[in-house]
Amino acid sequence: MNPFSSEILLTTYSQCRSRSVIKTLPSSFCLNLPGLPMRVFILYTFLMVMQDRLTLHNFLTLSGSDSGIGHALAKHLDSLGFVVFAGVLDKDGPGAQELRQSCSPRLCVLQLDITSTTQVKEAYLTISEQLQNAGLWGLVNNAGILGFPADGELLPMSTYRHCMEVNFFGAVQVSKTFLPLLRKSRGRLVNMSSMAGGIPLPRYAAYGASKAALSMFSGVMRQELSKWGIKVAAIHPSGFRTGWSEQWDEQEQELLASLAAETRSAYGEEYLLGLRSYLVQLPSHCAPDLSPVLAAVLHALLATRPHGLYTPGKGAYIPLFIFCCFPLWFYDFFISKYFTLHLQPNMFGAWCVGYVAVEPEQ
Ligand SMILES: NC(=O)c1ccc[n+]([C@@H]2O[C@H](COP(=O)([O-])OP(=O)(O)OC[C@H]3O[C@@H](n4cnc5c(N)ncnc54)[C@H](OP(=O)(O)O)[C@@H]3O)[C@@H](O)[C@H]2O)c1
Repeated sequence: MNPFSSEILLTTYSQCRSRSVIKTLPSSFCLNLPGLPMRVFILYTFLMVMQDRLTLHNFLTLSGSDSGIGHALAKHLDSLGFVVFAGVLDKDGPGAQELRQSCSPRLCVLQLDITSTTQVKEAYLTISEQLQNAGLWGLVNNAGILGFPADGELLPMSTYRHCMEVNFFGAVQVSKTFLPLLRKSRGRLVNMSSMAGGIPLPRYAAYGASKAALSMFSGVMRQELSKWGIKVAAIHPSGFRTGWSEQWDEQEQELLASLAAETRSAYGEEYLLGLRSYLVQLPSHCAPDLSPVLAAVLHALLATRPHGLYTPGKGAYIPLFIFCCFPLWFYDFFISKYFTLHLQPNMFGAWCVGYVAVEPEQ
């Protein structure tokens, strides 16, 4: 991975800080106040308040730091001087070990399976104890699963349920648990959704539906939490090469085993086995450099006015723009040109199955 330049990040960070410092300066300070002691007093009070605010900005919680984007983000936030509570699915796994070895002692690795109510509560208790009545500046709901990408008709119900369980219910549970800490600091909630959560994409029925739910949750939270000064952002990255840690063999077997004979024959063996080739090709279409997605999360965490939606990745906003501004038939045509698997189902077989199905009634 092309390392994300800490220098640029530090500059952005200090710019964000100094901009908010400038905006927070009491205007009376610029007026012609009588006497030096009064100015010194105001400056001292202001610096004390700012120090508290900047301390609050330091505490961040992040889920899914074992690998990929979450892992890279944990390292970068740590290198910028934040106190990072890095939630991991396996606290003894290689990702967690690597974080302990390569990051500063500030970084705290926490066992956090976001689908486990007990683990979420335990993480909350550990973090609130360490914060000692201070607030948490940011929560990044990064943990997520992709599931086996295949036609929606073929996906087993377990894939739909698992995607919703992790990508949606998990993120909602973590958000609800940590919101009291974010409220204390009027902090930031950042949800890692996906491009597939904003637009319909073939083979992402389960994943896309769960991410669409997360994006909708983000939008509603953004509106509702603004009264507490909490800012909420959804990130819709396009494809980044992270080595999705899925057990494809197991999932493919489950998919094939769950198919009814009629569906199996309608799609044909060649098409079904070809689904795997899409997965093999997927990394070559994904960007190896994670910096756009890391920059988006940092902006969402630190900018004075973060956006509600970020679309990091080359051309990530184009399909969304076409989906929102063009007729649906044009969007479908565009997607069929760029996202189609070269293999097509066994249409002749499908027709035969339909024919056989109606034959007895004739
Ligand atoms: N990479 C992309 O192109 C892309 C595009 C759009 C959106 N995203 C989103 O970005 C986020 C990070 O993806 P990534 O590409 O970095 O994939 P990744 O490498 O698989 O990272 C996902 C992380 O979530 C963890 N995780 C899975 N289930 C969990 C659970 N129940 N509780 C807590 N953690 C769990 C995984 O742990 P294990 O490693 O132990 O499985 C892993 O560390 C995901 O939400 C994904 O949907 C990624």
